[in-house]
Amino acid sequence: MSRSAFVLQEMGLSPLWRPRGEPGIQDSPVNLATPPAEAAAVATVATPPRAAALASTAPAAEPTTVEVNEAPLQAKLPDVLPIQDWDSLHAHVAACQRCELARTRHNVVVGRGNQQARLLIIGEAPGEQEDRQGLPFVGKAGQLLENMLAAAGIHSEQDVYICNVVKCRPPGNRNPAPAEIASCASYLQWQIDSVKPDLIVALGRFAAHTLLNSQAPISTLRKQLHHVQGHPLLVTFHPAYLLRSPGEKAKAWQDWHQVKCQLAG
Ligand code: URA
Repeated sequence: MSRSAFVLQEMGLSPLWRPRGEPGIQDSPVNLATPPAEAAAVATVATPPRAAALASTAPAAEPTTVEVNEAPLQAKLPDVLPIQDWDSLHAHVAACQRCELARTRHNVVVGRGNQQARLLIIGEAPGEQEDRQGLPFVGKAGQLLENMLAAAGIHSEQDVYICNVVKCRPPGNRNPAPAEIASCASYLQWQIDSVKPDLIVALGRFAAHTLLNSQAPISTLRKQLHHVQGHPLLVTFHPAYLLRSPGEKAKAWQDWHQVKCQLAG
């Protein structure tokens, strides 16, 4: 059994996730680390043909509607941070006292992975494990995310940069408050501008609502190509939600298939 088939079986998805009449997705790996120049050029321009390509490669089982939306990142800060580079970002966040979360955190969680990756994944906020280790998505939800990325042929360290909307853990894993999101907004904007990803994936309702300044349900936001700070963005389920609702994993697989198609351009 191939590695991807094994991972899919472990996730309980093997009968559902392989697109009919197509080779397994592992059979056509996408080079996420080194984009062709023309792909990078196209990716920054939101064009209907690119959206059409995405639609045409979606799984046959569920017709895909792709729309292009341009939305500003919510809660932009008026200040311009003197952040020159990644070390400077880490230093600023480590010293940050902008909101109440600074009083209860053990560690700030800035991000991990390849800072020049073509794929930027954005979650909600650190949980307990992330707060302890200072790294995003290292708990149970992170393990499921790793499995889904592996099944899609995406290497989480080489091909992806992963971060959260909020850089410190909200106590008890409560939702981040609007003031906390606003406090972190300029850090996230800097990360998006610096990674310059070909594609952003927003994990879950919270990240999607913050990035898109929308209150629409996930079912509406999925399968549309949105744009944030000039970068294409897709929405999928948060892995923590998938742990609670494993029946939704098949839809998540469709989303990751779209991610792969979008990156393949
Ligand atoms: N959930 C998130 O949204 N982010 C993490 O880093 C961990 C869990």
